[in-house]
Amino acid sequence: MKIISFEGIEGVGKSTQIELLKKFLEKNSKSVEVFREPGSTLSGEKIRDILLDDQYDLSSKTELLLMFSARSELVNKKINNSTADYLLLDRFFDASLAYQGYGRNLSIELINKLVDFIDCPSPDLSFLIDISVEEGFARKINDKIDRIESSGYDFFNKVRNGYLEIAKNNEDRFIIINGSKTVDEIHNNIIQNIDI
Ligand code: TMP
Repeated sequence: MKIISFEGIEGVGKSTQIELLKKFLEKNSKSVEVFREPGSTLSGEKIRDILLDDQYDLSSKTELLLMFSARSELVNKKINNSTADYLLLDRFFDASLAYQGYGRNLSIELINKLVDFIDCPSPDLSFLIDISVEEGFARKINDKIDRIESSGYDFFNKVRNGYLEIAKNNEDRFIIINGSKTVDEIHNNIIQNIDI
């Protein structure tokens, strides 16, 4: 089984690319499961609702622990039991490093301990689809803004720079893709890096 994660700030087009890669892999006779984070389990989706609902004024520590509660369910009930050839993850623990670590200034060391504590496997390959914060939000102009999205430009610039640093520190598995390219160009870039 291969685990491929997709990371990036809001509006970079992760979900579109995951759908295209899923179709490509299935055409090549591979079995594929797709999970999104936070979510993709019964309890994880409820935790997601709390995390994104702007009527809750959650502290950063609560936000981190809820992310890991949802992740623990996903990892232990689904990811670590999967028999699919490929798992495509719409965000994984790198998102906690970028958003809660770099963005909310919580301890990277603690986040890495939580990753070990819940038995998170490491992705075989991670795509960081990178665009500027301005471009990302311009693409979401018609969407309702959720609790995390309302955190402001400074926060998202910290998250974006955090992701770039995480990718640089994990060159063995990270590929950075310019998210300003067309959907087809990005898809072609992604499949060039998949060795089926
Ligand atoms: P999305 O799946 O629609 O992008 O929404 C998930 C939101 O949660 C997004 O704003 C990123 C955020 N997030 C974190 O802050 N930390 C995490 O660990 C994960 C998985 C997501």
